[in-house]
Amino acid sequence: MKNLIGKGLDRLDGPLKVTGKARYSAEFPAAKMTYAVGVGSEIASGKIRSINTAEAEGAPGVIAVITHKNRPALKASSDFFGGGALADVRLPLADANIYHAGQFVAVVVAESLECARHAAELVKVTYIEENPVVDFDDKKAERYKAKQWFHGPIARTRGTPEPALAAAAVKVDNTYRTPVQNHNPMEPHATTAIWDGDKLTVYDATQGLYNTRKSLSDIFGIPPANVRVVCKFIGGGFGCKGAMWPHVTLCVMAARAVNRPVKLVLSRPQMFTNVGHRAETAQRVALGAEKDGTIKAIIHSGTSHTSVNGEFIETFTVSTPMLYNSPNVHVEQDLVKLNKQLPTFMRAPGETPGSFALESAMDELACALDMDPVELRMKNYALKDPESGNPFSSKGLDQCYKVGAQKIGWEKRNKKPGTRKEGDWLVGLGMATATYPTMHFNATCVGTLSADGSFLFKSSTHEMGTGTRTVMVQIAAERLGVPVDKVDFDLGDTDLPMAPISGGSATVSTVGSAVDGAALRLRNTLAEKLATAVDSPFNGVPGEIEVVDGKFTTRTKSEKLSYEDALKFLKLPSLEEKYETAFNDHAKKVSMHSFGAHFVEVKVDPDLGTVRVSRAVGVFANGRIINEKTCRSQVHGGIVMGIGMALEEATLMDRRSGRVINANLGEYHVPVNADIPSIEAYFIPEEDTIINSIGAKGIGEIGITGVAAAVANAVYNATGKRIRHLPITPDKVFV
Ligand code: MOS
Repeated sequence: MKNLIGKGLDRLDGPLKVTGKARYSAEFPAAKMTYAVGVGSEIASGKIRSINTAEAEGAPGVIAVITHKNRPALKASSDFFGGGALADVRLPLADANIYHAGQFVAVVVAESLECARHAAELVKVTYIEENPVVDFDDKKAERYKAKQWFHGPIARTRGTPEPALAAAAVKVDNTYRTPVQNHNPMEPHATTAIWDGDKLTVYDATQGLYNTRKSLSDIFGIPPANVRVVCKFIGGGFGCKGAMWPHVTLCVMAARAVNRPVKLVLSRPQMFTNVGHRAETAQRVALGAEKDGTIKAIIHSGTSHTSVNGEFIETFTVSTPMLYNSPNVHVEQDLVKLNKQLPTFMRAPGETPGSFALESAMDELACALDMDPVELRMKNYALKDPESGNPFSSKGLDQCYKVGAQKIGWEKRNKKPGTRKEGDWLVGLGMATATYPTMHFNATCVGTLSADGSFLFKSSTHEMGTGTRTVMVQIAAERLGVPVDKVDFDLGDTDLPMAPISGGSATVSTVGSAVDGAALRLRNTLAEKLATAVDSPFNGVPGEIEVVDGKFTTRTKSEKLSYEDALKFLKLPSLEEKYETAFNDHAKKVSMHSFGAHFVEVKVDPDLGTVRVSRAVGVFANGRIINEKTCRSQVHGGIVMGIGMALEEATLMDRRSGRVINANLGEYHVPVNADIPSIEAYFIPEEDTIINSIGAKGIGEIGITGVAAAVANAVYNATGKRIRHLPITPDKVFV
């Protein structure tokens, strides 16, 4: 079964999804269910002066209206840095203070969703309004240096970058801007809370089951063992469901208050204000090089926003020091506090806006040098991590450039912009590097072999649509040497062994390693028992036992025993093994990253300023590909999201009121089929033997990194217009 891995195995839960049998968090029924709707603040800064709930309470079907005045007492919990789940550690309805528009000021619980929505309109709130600060460039906004994030210190320096830049023969030094973008997965955030005495069950659309359990246990003052959090399917996560947002606490609080199950689903407009978004950024990238293209200085700095009462750092400089050779590098970031919901993780947080700036600047440097952009990248190719000096665990980036250039027909690119036409359209080619770190967290998997020869592996990870269950089954089946239909994998429930937040593209690497470890233990334990049992055909040959076609055998003996025969022979009713994997890249003294390259062709209508991406080629070196099909769909999704970022997506604020003015899918544009060309994705064969036992890096996030820069670079090549402020809308192209 060695060849099992890599194959495009269909998602095992595909039939469940297309027949509607897959249950999402809003779809779990309960007797005497009630429905909650949150009421959002109309102002973005100030205080509640008065809140009148009488009319809402008297409306048909209403069971309770909860505000900061009558809410039950809640205890504090931590954010993800402290093992909890909270995005914003301020609990909902904590007091009368308002920090952003849409912030919950009340929650209505009723017999039906319609009754709750109606009554929510009847809650009367008056405010003491202050001028909100929502404009990124507002001089009144408080600014400070970003210090520390998961990765360590934000500011990093090597050499003497400013003097090196000043002395460089050729330099570019520009500012790039990316707007706020909002998560719009098909499934909005949804929570169903059911209390049974002091035991709580919560069905929640979350990428972090165990963290959510920890925070709910803290907030409601009950032991973690009394909290069960279940999430069998997520209709898209992308980071917005990584942390726990206030509606989860509201829902659980409401269920306790009315002593009945409560369901709370965010509306599409609430998705823009009551959960996080990708922070706005303004980034300076300065590059200095010798005339032959050798980079001597890289400076990447700038600002992203956070909320007035919490910190989130959009780490756009995090990959810059390791991507290209340069003796002199400086990165640093500032934060500006705005009256907005706290920003959050959004597919490749940091690298996505960061790669737009850095990879646009690389294109600008190539133009200034009159050098091919691929050649410039190869001229400064880092064979070792230039920051740490450590070797890369694997790095097939040079292959990505080569294959991508060949597939797109890079030789057809005219260096001189605005010179290639097809009918009325200007045509351009652009490229950019993609990268994302390979992360590995802690996870536990328990595997069981039953008397009928079937295997079940369990870990409380998440199915975000990525194909986790399918891939885990493939990993276990390969290690055991059995067909995939003998193996199943259960996830999405805190009753199962611990798994971390599904984020950072770390699930295959982390949970996959735990599954692989548990499968190996099952196989080895049986082999050892077979080697030591006195009447066993394999007695005394422990080193020789192998599994061929699902059966234990050795090269020298003709006996064959299937897993179920082995159990029977050993008189075992079943066998269980557990494996825990731990974060260990520091011990390995290697630099672990996925790499890739995007090549795109755009067509630009010079009269209308319309930009069409006509071809997108992505080539990736992501370690071992466990499942070609699910992997391909991840990078396709990343490229689609990257095209949306390049051309369409931006959340707009009314500066006076501090309210989002396009909080709906009619006015917040995401790509539709007509915006997306046929996408080509290629994978460089790569097996990373250092990273983990399965050789796989992450794939969820790298697909989007670099896409916006590749599009912007192609627009420049087509038109001669360098657009440094996303999205590239027609008004910026035709002027
Ligand atoms: Mo990802 S933005 O770490 O879910």
